Amino acid sequence: MKILSIIGASTFGNTTEVMRYFKLQLEKCGGYEFEDLYLQDHKIDFCTGCHNCIMLGEEKCPHYLTVKEIEDKMLQADGVILATPGYMFSVSGIMKNFLDHVAYNCHRPKYFGKKIFLISSCTKWQEDGVFIPMKTWAQGAGFDLCGSMYIDMMPFPYSESELEKRRNKVNEAAFSFDKILKTKTEIKPEFSRIMIFHAFRTMSAMFPKVMQADYRYFSDKKAYDKNSKWYIPAKIPFFKNFMAGIIEKKMKSSIMSMVDQEKSEKADGVFRNKL
Ligand SMILES: Cc1cc2nc3c(=O)[nH]c(=O)nc-3n(C[C@H](O)[C@H](O)[C@H](O)COP(=O)(O)O)c2cc1C
Repeated sequence: MKILSIIGASTFGNTTEVMRYFKLQLEKCGGYEFEDLYLQDHKIDFCTGCHNCIMLGEEKCPHYLTVKEIEDKMLQADGVILATPGYMFSVSGIMKNFLDHVAYNCHRPKYFGKKIFLISSCTKWQEDGVFIPMKTWAQGAGFDLCGSMYIDMMPFPYSESELEKRRNKVNEAAFSFDKILKTKTEIKPEFSRIMIFHAFRTMSAMFPKVMQADYRYFSDKKAYDKNSKWYIPAKIPFFKNFMAGIIEKKMKSSIMSMVDQEKSEKADGVFRNKL
């Protein structure tokens, strides 16, 4: 199995050390081939906020080729690890820039059937700030999120017992990821994911010339068909689908009440309101 690690950290810091030990444990389980991708070696300029990726298509991003190179690697991998240090109660800047460039996948997920694990070298109080952006992206992009683990690495020498605690935590996480990687899992989206499907499907149907890329995506997937419940075949419980349908209708009427119909008909491509 191919495991791709996308690392938003230096090659000599704590995150790299945690990654080294995590991969060592996975390696012991057998059957893995690893590739490390340091984001610093794949220089993606800052996201310019043009919204082209979301509205027109990812190929319209000014940094498309560099992003595509990384996305192609993720598509070829069986498992992906995202690793970042905790900086200012969030992911590192380089990881955030990467997430901004692949955020469009939350509109048009394509990583179904791929497993992902999230790792951070950070303190307990940074945990939420670090994992919320990565988890949101991973689930939105269609990955099967297998877990997350943070290890705090203070800048002073730990006692052997403290080191052992951290080794044990990494061991447990690696063995749990190994187990999930080797098990065939069924796609069972959570209600929030079902809702997102309904939300973007409706918005793109309402504004096909603005949300052009989403409109193409949902059309290709035949998702505008009344009976379509999800991007791909999956077990969607009747009640969840029913509730999502009700919320979708409410959302649609709420958006309609905000829209200027005449301007809306003329809008073509990325649209920005002027105050
Ligand atoms: C720029 C920067 C910002 C940081 N921000 C925080 C922070 O907000 N809270 C915290 O507890 N630690 C913070 N830290 C400490 C790191 O989370 C910690 O040292 C981490 O293990 C560094 O991993 P690295 O060696 O892979 O960069 C920060 C460190 C750096 C360099």
